[in-house]
Amino acid sequence: MKAIRARESTGVSGLAFEDVTDPRPMFCEVLVKVAACGITHNELEWPLWTCRAGHHRTTIIPGHEVSGVVAALGFGTAGLAVGDEVFGLTDQLRDGAAAEYVAVEARNLALKPRTADHVHAAAVPRAGLTAWQGLFEHGKLAKGQTVVIHGAGGAVGSTAVQLARWAGAEVIGTGRGHSRELVTELGADRFIALDGDRLEDVTGQADLVFDTIGGELLAKSPTLLRPGGTLVTIKADAQLPAGRDDITTVAFVQESSRAQLTELARLVDQGQLRPQVGAVYPLARAAEAFGAKAAGGISGRVILQP
Ligand SMILES: NC(=O)c1ccc[n+]([C@@H]2O[C@H](COP(=O)([O-])OP(=O)(O)OC[C@H]3O[C@@H](n4cnc5c(N)ncnc54)[C@H](OP(=O)(O)O)[C@@H]3O)[C@@H](O)[C@H]2O)c1
Repeated sequence: MKAIRARESTGVSGLAFEDVTDPRPMFCEVLVKVAACGITHNELEWPLWTCRAGHHRTTIIPGHEVSGVVAALGFGTAGLAVGDEVFGLTDQLRDGAAAEYVAVEARNLALKPRTADHVHAAAVPRAGLTAWQGLFEHGKLAKGQTVVIHGAGGAVGSTAVQLARWAGAEVIGTGRGHSRELVTELGADRFIALDGDRLEDVTGQADLVFDTIGGELLAKSPTLLRPGGTLVTIKADAQLPAGRDDITTVAFVQESSRAQLTELARLVDQGQLRPQVGAVYPLARAAEAFGAKAAGGISGRVILQP
């Protein structure tokens, strides 16, 4: 099959469109014919170069958000059938979905939203699972509370805005000014442009800060929280700010969950969650796609199509 591959020494700049061996579905896995694959621009900077067995990986097929059609079943796989339209988050320590086919553990997939095409379905898994887990599992967001979402126009942020709104929270989004229209349209009550407005105006107002940006913004975010509030960041390697013993701080990496994927698909089908696709590229132009997203200014997810 054709796939995009990276080598550790060259990262995104060395991404190559190559012929590779077809994957085989193993124990409790399915083979998915990829229709669309979501990428995160800096995913090759994550610690993915060691597989679960501890061996060094010399190449990586990136892209872990997939939407496609089940083409074959591995030994013992139940609950999915050949021909099912599925979406999900593939194991990040294995070859991903920037390819014509990918082998995925069946438990990491769910039936795709019926009302979304594959391109939009592929924008949901990582963004949706991360936003869900950050807001509701780690952040314990409840109806009537106030959440500040940093990076609200991004793939994770734009999903978090919609989920927080659906949960009945007051939503304050932040980001660059170009995101204001989108974030407001997705349901945020307020938008603070970090390149123009005053973040200080919401000091002490949040029950939860959900951060997707990190750096200096993360460092000063405790001031936005009420006593008893929670600061959740998805910049998993970030230094969590210290200095307040009346707040909780959490940094985490998302996990796959068929139950949560199914719930996200239901919200898409009910019109509560609109997957945000900023650009679509053919698989062969993956390097260009990574570069364009990294340059900033593309809202939502960038999708590759074989
Ligand atoms: N821990 C986890 O489980 C997890 C899961 C998913 C993603 N992540 C990480 O979380 C980050 C966000 O992911 P994503 O997929 O949502 O990325 P994304 O689509 O690029 O979203 C980031 C958003 O933040 C904005 N932004 C970035 N730096 C900013 C700054 N200095 N000032 C104002 N706005 C800024 C971006 O605007 P521009 O487009 O204008 O730059 C964009 O709207 C990435 O670093 C990713 O690797 C972690």
